[in-house]
Amino acid sequence: MKQVKVIIVGNGERANCYCKYALTNPQDLKVVAIVDPDIEKRKEGSVKYGVPESMTFASVDDLLSYEKEHGRLADGVINATMDEWHYRTAMPLLRAGYNMLLEKPVVNNEKELLEIKKTAEENGCLLMVCHVLRYTPFYLAIKKVVESGEIGEIMHIETCENVGIAHASNSYIRGKWNSTEKCGSSMLLAKCCHDLDLICWLNNKTSPSRVSSFGGRNFLVAEKAPRGAGTRCLNDCPHVDTCQYSAKSIYVLNDKYPYYSWTCIDNDYESISREQKTESLKTYNPHGECAYKVNSDLVDHQAVMIHFENGSTATHSMIQGAVRPCRLIRIMGTKGEIQGMIESCKFCVRTYDFFNADYLEKEFDVSGLFEKDDHHAGGDDGIIKDFVNMVRGGEVSISCTKIDDSIYGHLCVFMADKSMQSGKTEEIILKK
Ligand SMILES: NC(=O)c1ccc[n+]([C@@H]2O[C@H](COP(=O)([O-])OP(=O)(O)OC[C@H]3O[C@@H](n4cnc5c(N)ncnc54)[C@H](O)[C@@H]3O)[C@@H](O)[C@H]2O)c1
Repeated sequence: MKQVKVIIVGNGERANCYCKYALTNPQDLKVVAIVDPDIEKRKEGSVKYGVPESMTFASVDDLLSYEKEHGRLADGVINATMDEWHYRTAMPLLRAGYNMLLEKPVVNNEKELLEIKKTAEENGCLLMVCHVLRYTPFYLAIKKVVESGEIGEIMHIETCENVGIAHASNSYIRGKWNSTEKCGSSMLLAKCCHDLDLICWLNNKTSPSRVSSFGGRNFLVAEKAPRGAGTRCLNDCPHVDTCQYSAKSIYVLNDKYPYYSWTCIDNDYESISREQKTESLKTYNPHGECAYKVNSDLVDHQAVMIHFENGSTATHSMIQGAVRPCRLIRIMGTKGEIQGMIESCKFCVRTYDFFNADYLEKEFDVSGLFEKDDHHAGGDDGIIKDFVNMVRGGEVSISCTKIDDSIYGHLCVFMADKSMQSGKTEEIILKK
């Protein structure tokens, strides 16, 4: 089997999640070049993957200029830049004919999404979107039950994304995705393009046609802060020992999501002292700010309703700051139903019990089917293996997130956000 050579574009957190596979399975995957404007990230990648410094580039343009003179370096690209860079970095590489594993969200608007799809098709590129949840043993097993016909035709799918307090705080309240202006993505796009993708993938005998949505930022607002709250938890807030968003609880006592919370400190997060962390939260670290007063324009809750061509329907809800973080799913079919929660690694399938005029229930447990250090319950590992397989010309898997099969989830997100603004039901024009 041919070793697949890749170039990392954006050597950050997510690139690391996929490319650790190159370290454990060098016969399958090799990182041969790195593009990142941050010199430290280039150096770090160079050491980690054994890439000569001469094969590290500050921009995609520099890489492509080098290739013009010396020829092509790799079979594919892992594009794990931040949301606002996806379009600008992906387009020239697709025009150059590169196969690509591209982080989600692809882009934040329909026009650029269709342009990326067209450019990939015109240049014969295999383009996969990092909808990693399709690759988790949990959703994959659910998909197989749906495909088996056991629950009949899908009538309705219901999903909930309850974003836990620490995760919401780290990423969407105080973190790098906390503003559409800053990173270009709405809350639904940044967090739930996965969920809307799952809905469209599970119900892919048909396509979504109409979307409506309600939501807003109504609870994480200054007026709802505890009485007398300060502006920085560890500095001037009398609620530092009781507030559920207290930086003391989330960051100092429990160090949740440390790879996000200490990026403003110029040091590897594992070697930062507790004193340094506390000092940063008291002064310049955005994670030290009051969660109710922080400058964020994202919705703190949103509900979406989708109508499909064949009359089936789906709903999705997103709640920021849930006490128990979890993703829930319920699929109602003409002959049965599926219900589960990915965090428990369990789901059950119920079918009709003819003789007792009641129902039968089977439980599925997928724990143990993935490595515990995988950030997405087995999804990160699954997608990189499938990308390698696809670039080698292998058979496409049932989860495969090729662009033509991945755009409906994004279109549902765009239309949901549009509907939330317009107050109207929005149509998806693109048909299968
Ligand atoms: N699939 C998922 O479930 C999932 C989960 C988390 C994040 N994400 C997405 O993954 C992407 C990356 O997130 P992250 O947390 O790894 O970000 P990160 O900030 O850790 O990494 C991004 C890297 O891109 C580099 N970069 C910036 N501009 C660049 C350019 N023009 N060319 C090349 N490199 C450039 C940065 O220096 C940085 O090293 C985001 O789009 C994010 O939304 C996806």
